[in-house]
Amino acid sequence: MTVAACAARMPLGVGEAQVWRVPLVAALLRSEHLAASLSVEERERAARIAVAGGRERFVLARGVLRALLATYTGEHPGALRLVRGPGGKPALAPELGRGGLRFNISHSGELMLCAVARGADVGIDAERVDEGWPHARVAAHFLTRRERAVLRSLPPAERAGAFFACWTRKEALVKATGVGMGISLARVEVPVSSGAPVAVAHLDGRPAPWMLHDVVCGPGYRAALATPGTVERVQVLDPPEVLRALAAWG
Ligand SMILES: CC(C)(COP(=O)(O)OP(=O)(O)OC[C@H]1O[C@@H](n2cnc3c(N)ncnc32)[C@H](O)[C@@H]1OP(=O)(O)O)[C@@H](O)C(=O)NCCC(=O)NCCS
Repeated sequence: MTVAACAARMPLGVGEAQVWRVPLVAALLRSEHLAASLSVEERERAARIAVAGGRERFVLARGVLRALLATYTGEHPGALRLVRGPGGKPALAPELGRGGLRFNISHSGELMLCAVARGADVGIDAERVDEGWPHARVAAHFLTRRERAVLRSLPPAERAGAFFACWTRKEALVKATGVGMGISLARVEVPVSSGAPVAVAHLDGRPAPWMLHDVVCGPGYRAALATPGTVERVQVLDPPEVLRALAAWG
């Protein structure tokens, strides 16, 4: 399938966001192609990653990101120039206009999520639910008093899942703003319950102009997407579409 055909099948209008669900193992078959599209700076960064498996995951994720963005811009993945905002958030360099395409990625375990929207900042976060993680201790530092109270009111067996639902919503919102470590998660308040598919966040006690969407990623994972309220439709794209997009560049 050509890039033009791929993009034509998945138009992305203003008011829409798309979330690509990428099992990184699915990208392994194309790993050489993907690695070849990385910039010199990305290769240098990869070479500095010493954590076991971390380098390979970074290279795969960057290659996938470039291939996915290319299906929207029509440029070769290797020709895309990525820059960082003041808080460190990666973005497409604005030189070609590119229709206001914005994106954000998250990876956890073998899962990568890539959110894309036009003219709207997006933030995405995925976490593998680790039942053994000391979430009560982390909650004491990063959750608000109200969030902690809701968490404590839940049956113990539900607390880990609820913690990660809350955590990913908060991280997604912070990632949407792009300020990085410039904002404390304790200033962001979100509904803890994972029942509601869409929720409003509060920043310093006031409703913030962001919507939080839960992204279903299968057992063992929690994920959330943050968008401005102007984004009314979220489409999730699964491995078959991912593989088609990766194959579009030969
Ligand atoms: C820095 C931060 C974005 C990393 O998030 P993470 O959950 O560790 O990792 P994720 O896989 O979800 O996201 C990493 C990706 O986010 C993107 N990213 C990096 N800085 C970003 C920023 N300031 N805003 C949005 N996205 C950012 C990058 O694409 C990165 O992937 P890459 O390194 O392969 O390029 C996030 O921790 C953050 O902004 N935290 C600030 C809030 C806070 O206090 N967190 C408590 C941490 S204990």
